[in-house]
Amino acid sequence: MALKQHKDEQVRYEQQVDNSRQYVLPFIEQTKPVGKGVNVMEIGTGEGGVLVPFMEKGAFCVGVDLNPLRIDVANSFFANEIAEGKIEFLYKNVYDDDFLQRFKGFFDVIILKDAIEHIPEQEKFIPYLRNFLKEGGQIFFGFPPWYMPFGGHQQIADHKLGMMPWYHILPKPLYRGMLKMIGENEGVIKELMEIYDTRISIERFERIVRNSGYKFLNKQHYLINPIYKYKFGWQPRKQSKLISAIPFFRNFVTTCVYYTIG
Ligand SMILES: C[S@@+](CC[C@H](N)C(=O)[O-])C[C@H]1O[C@@H](n2cnc3c(N)ncnc32)[C@H](O)[C@@H]1O
Repeated sequence: MALKQHKDEQVRYEQQVDNSRQYVLPFIEQTKPVGKGVNVMEIGTGEGGVLVPFMEKGAFCVGVDLNPLRIDVANSFFANEIAEGKIEFLYKNVYDDDFLQRFKGFFDVIILKDAIEHIPEQEKFIPYLRNFLKEGGQIFFGFPPWYMPFGGHQQIADHKLGMMPWYHILPKPLYRGMLKMIGENEGVIKELMEIYDTRISIERFERIVRNSGYKFLNKQHYLINPIYKYKFGWQPRKQSKLISAIPFFRNFVTTCVYYTIG
């Protein structure tokens, strides 16, 4: 059963703004104050709402996305702020040479909010991000670990059975077969199969970060993801420190993790 925010860009935008104001910005500010003179980039920005509280604090913001339709929406939502030079939205691949040349060593903060689990070859992508950081710059990641009950993003399925927890961790052909059996359309199945291929666990994420030579600056695991307030009406809840410390098992009961690295 697809949720309202999967169909309505205004709703999605407002939820991004609210979640960012209450959770993402305060988390980043625990290690990096944000204000005038700070440059912030969000990769996988969607409608751009996550950037609003950063822009309001005076930071210059750039939102990048590979979906041109979502960049069009962001450009229309932010027409005034774009004209004032406060923010920019780009339909762009961050690997493009002109993008790298323009933004080399430019950003104090890079945000990947619910994006890294959609990006292929994270082993190449995460170290590549260093190119865009200023000295002392930091990268924020917020993502749902693969093994959590809805880690396959199956809530985008149209059929209510598509929302079942954990069946996304079946072998890929079985998972695809189940989605076909309940009559999901090819577009949804394709998207879910792409997420299957780019899936990321807490352990693999932490290993990539360590192997890329970054340091962990801040970490928060959630039992209940702050965005579930909008999706299911559930109150956000932090994960217990004990469970957070149990490798592998923690993935199954942790619906969201926040990290800052640098
Ligand atoms: C789940 S949405 C998250 C949007 C927003 N950050 C939020 O928190 O609501 C993920 C976004 O990442 C974008 N995306 C996926 N792969 C990307 C890539 N390689 N480069 C830039 N954007 C990408 C998608 O087009 C999509 O808009």
